[in-house]
Amino acid sequence: MAPPFRLPTSSPCSTLARRRTGAATPVPPEPAAAASVDEVAAEAAPGLEVVSDQTAAVEPAESREEVLVLDFGGQYSQLIARRIRECGVFSELLPHDIPIGAIRDRNPRGLVLSGGPASVYAEGAPPLRTELLELGIPVLGICYGMQLMVHELGGKVEQAPSGEFGRSQLTIGGEGGRLLAGLPAEQQCWMSHRDTVYEAPPGFEALASSSESPVAACEDTDRGLYGIQFHPEVVHTPYGSEVLTRFLRDIAGCREKWSPASVIDEQVEAIREQVGDARAICGLSGGVDSATAALLVHRAIGDRLTCVFVDHGMMRKNEAEQVVEAFRDRIGVNLIHVDARDQFLAELEGVDDPETKRKIIGREFINVFDEEASKIDDARFLVQGTLYSDVIESGGDGRSAATIKSHHNVGGLPDDMAMELVEPLRTLFKDEVRAVAAQLELPERFVWRQPFPGPGLAIRVVGGEVTRERLDILRDADAILQEEVRAAGLYRELWQSFCVLPVVRSVGVQGDERSYAYPVVIRAVTSDDAMTADWARLPYDLLERASNRIINECQGVNRVTLDITSKPPGTIEWE
Ligand code: XMP
Repeated sequence: MAPPFRLPTSSPCSTLARRRTGAATPVPPEPAAAASVDEVAAEAAPGLEVVSDQTAAVEPAESREEVLVLDFGGQYSQLIARRIRECGVFSELLPHDIPIGAIRDRNPRGLVLSGGPASVYAEGAPPLRTELLELGIPVLGICYGMQLMVHELGGKVEQAPSGEFGRSQLTIGGEGGRLLAGLPAEQQCWMSHRDTVYEAPPGFEALASSSESPVAACEDTDRGLYGIQFHPEVVHTPYGSEVLTRFLRDIAGCREKWSPASVIDEQVEAIREQVGDARAICGLSGGVDSATAALLVHRAIGDRLTCVFVDHGMMRKNEAEQVVEAFRDRIGVNLIHVDARDQFLAELEGVDDPETKRKIIGREFINVFDEEASKIDDARFLVQGTLYSDVIESGGDGRSAATIKSHHNVGGLPDDMAMELVEPLRTLFKDEVRAVAAQLELPERFVWRQPFPGPGLAIRVVGGEVTRERLDILRDADAILQEEVRAAGLYRELWQSFCVLPVVRSVGVQGDERSYAYPVVIRAVTSDDAMTADWARLPYDLLERASNRIINECQGVNRVTLDITSKPPGTIEWE
């Protein structure tokens, strides 16, 4: 009998659950955002290393009501900003030591001090600048953020005999004060700390406790200071959104209903202003990031945008046609479709080393892209699908020169291609980009496309040279797997699902004859960010259908196997 189908949810919090249990997926390093870097690499221009000259992550709109999250190094800091946005209020994550003036300039409605791994007593622990508490806006400290505030203002923080990690029971005392009023007196929450608040500072009221935390929440409404020991941003705190909403709406007075779609008009205007009468080019890959960036720019400057789609021959089945059909025929974008398949294959001849393959593809991509770009007069702008997670990775507030790179990226922008970047997705998380894409009526297939590496199928023909025959076999097998995964309704739940073609042959029997052909490996993983991944427990009947079809329909394949390796110790790709 087939085992019950079980896929971990794709919520960021599922990583948290796995961390807690210590089960399948180990803890990724912070910040957990590398996937998008890979995707930028994959989608914008494989091989290009782009250096942005933008100096600020985002220019807040005049009218925008925003709440800033100061990052003290917590593993869930990004998640706090995401949750605040989900509550309809724009939020950004900034380094905890950002100059006070920079915060003042942005005129936020409130501040959140994130959690962090340090103890307030540790040498070198990120300190709290008390000016932050005197800006005249409400401040919410979460976990370490609360402990810092309490410690600084004369409360008592000490290391508890035992830590409090994972699910915990929160007990609200009295009416719950301003922050927790009206919430159930007993509720579950998620904790992750060893230092504990034993006494709230003078002027504060203690609002709640848990088994290990005598003061699990406190507030000083006169000064607008609030603290919670638990994590409202994770799903294991069922009333977390209520607590955040209370802070955002009732305390910080935010009313604006921010949504990813509200970015569209704002960005269209910003692009028009930036590009003026000039022209822009955009490397399209078929992925959602570059596609959405291109659509926004197209909406802003119409025909003055030219998209370049380089078909390097390593795409999945029909992908090139789909890009052309959607962008040129349906959306009406100026699209240059470069069929460079032969050129790439020729360059890859005799190469089986993965890094060399990547380098060659990166280099050729630049050559082709550069040549096309040079034909467009006055193309001074390069459109990139840089996401917010990449911005955070590169320094958050842009102080560290926003250099977008990926370990997968090779080469750099040629000197003579010095173009100014247009990055309309710089404020958005991946799921928000998908929402914008849907709003812009990008075809569903692009909106939900799983990440795909820049060098494409070339790094899935493993242990041997990339030849046309092997690519064709792999492409056909991969298309069958995609069809079956989609038919089973699992495409969106999987981070990636694909086939790999090891360059070995094994014996089989087909009809009355012995065969000697390639195996195909099915690789399907769940992940939140590609830094860690678990192999997906695909249903047996899906595996059976895919296996039968691959062997029957793909000439040259006589065996199908399933990769049941997590990352780590494996990687998602085989090369
Ligand atoms: P690994 O194999 O390192 O992959 O677990 C993590 C994520 O990165 C993608 N990937 C690439 N993306 N160029 C890219 O643009 C590459 O050379 C490359 N190699 C891996 C991979 O598909 C996964 O999403």
